[in-house]
Parts: sequence; C-alpha cells; structure tokens
Amino acid sequence: MKKLLVQLDDRSYPIYIGSGLLNRPELLTQHIKSRQVLVVTNETIAPLYLDAILKNLQSYIVETVVLPDGEQYKTLDFVARIFDKLLAGKFSRNATLIALGGGVIGDMGGFAAACYQRGIPFLQIPTTLLAQVDSSVGGKTGVNHALGKNMIGAFYQPQCVIADADVLDTLDDRQLSAGLAEVIKYGLIRDAEFFVWLENNMDALLARDKQALAFVIERSCINKAEVVVEDETESGVRATLNLGHTFGHAIETGVGYGQYLHGEAVAIGTCQAADLSRRKGWLNDADVARIMALFKRAKLPVNPPKEIDSQRFLELMAVDKKNVDGQIRLILLKKIGEATLPTDINQELLEVTLKTYGR
Ligand code: NAD
Ligand code: GLY
Repeated sequence: MKKLLVQLDDRSYPIYIGSGLLNRPELLTQHIKSRQVLVVTNETIAPLYLDAILKNLQSYIVETVVLPDGEQYKTLDFVARIFDKLLAGKFSRNATLIALGGGVIGDMGGFAAACYQRGIPFLQIPTTLLAQVDSSVGGKTGVNHALGKNMIGAFYQPQCVIADADVLDTLDDRQLSAGLAEVIKYGLIRDAEFFVWLENNMDALLARDKQALAFVIERSCINKAEVVVEDETESGVRATLNLGHTFGHAIETGVGYGQYLHGEAVAIGTCQAADLSRRKGWLNDADVARIMALFKRAKLPVNPPKEIDSQRFLELMAVDKKNVDGQIRLILLKKIGEATLPTDINQELLEVTLKTYGR
C-alpha cells in the first residue's frame, strides 16, 4: 500500500492507494471519531461494495443512503435525501459520513457533509478511476444546476481517501476510459514525462494491467495533491486542473447531464483547448495531433457534438466558475506539460475554434 499526504495544516489527510484496502477495517476506523456513521452510495455500487464497508463498521451505529445512479441526480433535491436521513436518524455534529462511489457520490456526499450542521467529518472511498485520480482528492464538493455544472458547492476536505484499485475490476470499459481523460490532463498541464509514459503504456492501462493502473493512480494523486496544497481554494494554479473543462461542462450541460460521461466531455474539451492553443501560437500541429491521438487511443471522443453550435457553446461557457466579471476565461497549453490561464483569450480565435474544430 502507498500512503500520500495532502498537507493542508489542520486539514491535512492521507490518501491510501493499493489492493485489498476495503478489507482493512483499521484504515477506515482510525479516521472515525464518532459512533454514528452514515454511508452514502448509489444503487449500482451498493450491491457490489456496501457489505464490505458495513462489515468493517460493526461496532458503530450505521445508517445508509442509497441514491439513484447518474449525473442527472447530482442535484440539491437528491442531496436533500442525505439531510433527511441525517436528521431522521438524529445524527450529531461529530457523526461521520462515508462517500462510497464515483465522483457523483463523492461530490454529493462531501457537499452534504460540508453543510450538515455546518460541517461534519467525511471520508472518501472512491470506486471509479476518475474518482481515484481526481475527484476524491482536494475537497471540491457540490452539485449541478440546470443552468450550470457544479455551480453550487463548497471546498471541504475529507479525513482520508481510500483508493482500492481492486474495485476497478467491476468498472466498465467506457468508465475506465472516462477516468483516463483526467489522467491525461495531469500530463498535459504539468507532467510532460507522465504524458510520454501514458503514450507508451496506454495499451497496458486499457488491458487493466494492475501495476500500470496503480502507478497511474499514485502519479495522478501526487500531481493533484501538489496543486491543491499550493492553491486549495483556486485563486491561481488550481484552475489549471480545469483544462478542457469549460468546453466540457458546456457539452455536459448543453446535451443534458448523463449523455456524455464527464471524462468524455473533458476529452473533447481538451482537444478544443489544444486547437485554440495552436491558434494562439503555443502548440504546433504535431503537438495537437499527439494530444488527439492519445485521447483516441484511450477510446475517448475528440469531436464536439453537432447539436451545440458555436453560439450555444458561448452561451453555456458564460456560466463557469473561472469567469471574471462575466468574461470567459480558459485554461490553455503553452506546451505539452505546461498550462496557462491567459487574461485575454481572444474572442475571435475562440470563435474560430468553436466553428471549425471537429466540425
Ligand atoms: P460516476 O460517479 O457517475 O460513476 C460512473 C458510473 O460508474 C456510475 O454508473 C457508477 O454507479 C458506476 N460505478 C462506480 N464505481 C463502480 C465500480 N467500482 N464498479 C462498477 N460500477 C461503478 O462518475 P465519475 O466519472 O466517477 O465522476 C464524475 C463526476 O465527478 C462528475 O459529476 C464530475 O463533475 C465530478 N468531478 C469532480 C471533481 C472534484 O474535484 N470534485 C473532479 C472531477 C470530476
Ligand atoms: N477537478 C478540479 C479540481 O479539483 O480543482
């Protein structure tokens, strides 16, 4: 087992990465300071992994909330079901919430924990590759709104993250690929050596080689933790973790939550960001081709949906947390391994990308 530390003063916490971790009760229980525990999961994950977690919690007073499965349920209405359970069960302020699931459950569970009685401790047990390499680490929690993705939320760090690579055995191939989109992101924004490693090892990852997956989870978490430690609440460098996300969120909101997986939308958005970075004169044609080739090899889409035209993209992109005074801001690439957040994105070039890239 590997143990990484996210160093955030009194909010510091470990990330455990390895195999068989769900069968190690002490990893979980050492971070639980209460008798009352609420496990939040969904109807797909519950039959697979809930029993293993409950077995580790036999000496606690445990209740569970099983939410419906899907990005379309990542809303305030469904977070209210978590509050209902906490209140009906008379959960106190020291109670612990465990989020067992992918990014949707992690974001919703974390947000409920941040809000209930103004904050109760919570633990992340991420069960998708995307959640293990990205969403469970760093304390971004929240829900979607019909008008904008992840627009309601809180920064709220967990007590620990337990990433058991064995749970990826039950993940389908499409979801595995979606997780790889966020992995490729780290290579592009700050880790060129990792990008090359991914080019050389994509086949092993798609074949679910355990060693390759464990390496990817660890390297991604190291990258994510470094960025979060430098800029926990996104006043600067943390925004680079959003490479491709402004385009991607527009796709998710525009076609309806749950149509494109988050990672798929990010893959397309990253290619759009690469195209714009080339127009800015930072990337060359060969760089863009390399980026698109890696996403394609990861079995991810690279072209935007036809039903969102450039005008609609601009409308949707105007609702984004990076925007300042209503102006769209985007993460672009200076080169493979270096991201930038330009103060002026150049509206004309953006429109050329939206009108021509992948059309
Ligand atoms: P998800 O949570 O919807 O999970 C994907 C699917 O896999 C679901 O159907 C789920 O039930 C199923 N599943 C989960 N674990 C499984 C397992 N081990 N075996 C079989 N099936 C399993 O999607 P996701 O890709 O994990 O997360 C996407 C969400 O994460 C988006 O809402 C996105 O906005 C958010 N996100 C948040 C952050 C952050 O920093 N908080 C970062 C990136 C993404
Ligand atoms: N996934 C983006 C962030 O954590 O900042």
